[in-house]
Amino acid sequence: MAQVAYSQHWNEFEWVEPSWEPAFLKNRVGKYYERIEKYPGGHIMRGRLPGADSLLLQSNDYLSIARHPAILSAQIEAIKHAGNGLLMSAVFLQGDQPQLRLEAEFARYLGSETTVLCQSGWCANTGLIQAIADEYVPVYVDMLAHMSLREGILSAGATARPFRHNDVDHLERQIRRHGPGIVVVDSVYSTTGAVAPLAEIVEIGLRYGCVLVVDESHSLGTHGPDGAGLVAACGLTEQVHFRTASLAKAFAGRAGLITCSKRFAEYFRCTARPAIFSSTLLPQEVAGLHATLRVIREEHWRRRKLHDNARYLRDELTRLGYNLASQSQIISLESGPELQTIVLRDALESRGIFGSVFCAPATTRNRSLMRLSVNAALTGAELQRIVDACAAIRKEVDLANWASTRRKRQPCPLLH
Ligand SMILES: Cc1ncc(COP(=O)(O)O)c(C=O)c1O
Repeated sequence: MAQVAYSQHWNEFEWVEPSWEPAFLKNRVGKYYERIEKYPGGHIMRGRLPGADSLLLQSNDYLSIARHPAILSAQIEAIKHAGNGLLMSAVFLQGDQPQLRLEAEFARYLGSETTVLCQSGWCANTGLIQAIADEYVPVYVDMLAHMSLREGILSAGATARPFRHNDVDHLERQIRRHGPGIVVVDSVYSTTGAVAPLAEIVEIGLRYGCVLVVDESHSLGTHGPDGAGLVAACGLTEQVHFRTASLAKAFAGRAGLITCSKRFAEYFRCTARPAIFSSTLLPQEVAGLHATLRVIREEHWRRRKLHDNARYLRDELTRLGYNLASQSQIISLESGPELQTIVLRDALESRGIFGSVFCAPATTRNRSLMRLSVNAALTGAELQRIVDACAAIRKEVDLANWASTRRKRQPCPLLH
């Protein structure tokens, strides 16, 4: 196998095959390098490095609070007071613990009986699905639902019954065919920014006696009353059995969350494998999230600004001929095949615009894309810079011939 050298865009690295690798490992790692050797100029995810004047649209800190002074000082105080705390699994937590108090605070915020905090959104989703599904339970999962939910289905040994993205008729047909089970969707899809038709999904799920799970990772903090999410915004708090979220998006921390009953929380803490067999949050993470919750509930202007920014960018890009699936702050340019996404990446990065490349396994091979995550701190001038760049690159990236453009069946207004 050839060695791969990256020097053009990325750090100066060379990967050398180690002599100790047995064949099964050599083949496995080799397949990865075979794939990336096909990319011109290095891995699709490794473009240029941003400069000081680049615009970074990669972060999920939608409300721009990662450096909020109230949150940082709460974290610093917690470290001074408790250091790194008790390094143990949350299964041992009891009594008057800050983490348990924070769970109760989140429950009041979200209108649920209680919540359980997990180490990440990944742990919340894999742990929850493991705890509620098994080999006899069909799990109806939207085809674009997050990988952590699908990982949960796999590790539960359950049968995934995927339904077409946001297609409620297909969901209903699947349930009629396979019987009651668990319906699993994201509220806002992390690849395209599309929003789930929650009211219809909940109605169908309940009609057929299913358990409903909604991943609110990209709507918690950003949508609904005081940022309590899309389920709350749709008035479905009582109907949705479990809401999960990563707190590494609008909450700008590192944790995950599940809304549930107190009865379920006790069962989850003592049976879900990520809850038992992995250490719990650190004191500064808990204190930081407590302060973040206050900021998110009180600073409404951040949500307003975020949605104004996102709406402006969606409208302008649509006017330029980009066919967006987005209805949210996640705005993706769906260039399609990976080689086309490399062209798009380079066109944007050479103009100082840095988004995130999404490719397999986050998307299917032919539907790779560049995701631009909008945030509340973007100024009018910065938004204009993104729009200008997206206008200037249309010929260069062959926008008129993208499959996503053709799906729109309208002429692409190429200006130059
Ligand atoms: C929809 C969704 N769910 C879950 C996760 C996992 O969250 P975390 O990064 O906290 O593990 C992510 C993050 O990529 C996500 O986008």
